[in-house]
Amino acid sequence: MNKILPNYQAWDIDENDYPATADIATRIKFLIGYGILAPSQHNTQPWAFHIDNNSLHVLPDTERALAVGDPQNDGLYLSLGACIENIMTAGKYFGLVSSVSFADTSAALVFQETKPEPGGGLLAAITARHSDKGKYTLKPLPEEIINLPQASAGTVARKLITDAVILQKISAIHLRAATQIASNLDFVKELVGWMRPNDTTAPDGMPGSVIGNSALKTKLIMALVRRKPQVFAKAAAKDKELMESSSGVAIWTVAQKSPATLIECGIDIQHFWLQLTMRGLSAQPLTASVSTKPYSDEIIADTGLTGFPVFLMRIGYGHLKDVKTPRREPVCN
Ligand SMILES: Cc1cc2nc3c(=O)[nH]c(=O)nc-3n(C[C@H](O)[C@H](O)[C@H](O)COP(=O)(O)O)c2cc1C
Repeated sequence: MNKILPNYQAWDIDENDYPATADIATRIKFLIGYGILAPSQHNTQPWAFHIDNNSLHVLPDTERALAVGDPQNDGLYLSLGACIENIMTAGKYFGLVSSVSFADTSAALVFQETKPEPGGGLLAAITARHSDKGKYTLKPLPEEIINLPQASAGTVARKLITDAVILQKISAIHLRAATQIASNLDFVKELVGWMRPNDTTAPDGMPGSVIGNSALKTKLIMALVRRKPQVFAKAAAKDKELMESSSGVAIWTVAQKSPATLIECGIDIQHFWLQLTMRGLSAQPLTASVSTKPYSDEIIADTGLTGFPVFLMRIGYGHLKDVKTPRREPVCN
């Protein structure tokens, strides 16, 4: 990661800069700095914020919605949830505990003073977390990850799968789903709009370095896919190797789909991901199968899950350590 570029500076947030004696709105603003480090599809960062005394409203920035890649905005609301989890985690660390409530398409956090969380909690994981899109080394996951408590919201379920036979099935379903999506030229055209050269100064999107590509290779691929989006269909095949190098897959379902249940699900996804990061494990969301029918039905049939599958990540022991994506300034109204 290039720490000099302004578009990466958000990652350099320093807990020692927490304005402990400032008014609550200023402190909440500082917490937002952790929120924006959350993952989002294509790194769109589809969140906006409104601070009202001791409340923080987290709203969708619909200009960042993905018409083709996320037509129902499922990924958008999952991303808002991930952003909220970061903010709540940081709040706890600094002594601002929050409760969350939901409106039609947004969530509100109400903060209250408490004792700072001893031991640091998951704060360090927020700045260490990133999507690791490289090959992993195959070995079993630690018991402490396998035994993590289930999702606490009744509407959200999470299942961690480590059984080799089921993993093979999921990998095969993913490959078919990813190949279908990658041959949708509208999807590819939208995706190319979020691809970035490695030396990008843009505050969003994905530089080629996140998949281990050199600056030159990234430029060539971007130029090629722009000219001939149909070549992208071949890219899906490489996911086979990635899947087969993974020690497990975690899948999330919701009992019914709404902005509130998706935000709750995003909170659990990020909480789980931060715990993986704390233990030195890598993860990469691979959402092709859960976002597309009939593949999402196949996932349900092969895993024994119920409800609507909305998120899938592969988990393992990765090697791409400090591969970060840019962040934009928070939109605060
Ligand atoms: C809802 C959602 C869906 C995603 N789907 C994929 C995916 O299918 N494939 C992939 O490689 N990354 C996927 N990602 C990861 C994003 O590309 C990544 O979060 C974004 O580029 C920011 O990078 P970071 O996670 O390293 O901060 C997804 C992330 C979210 C939140």
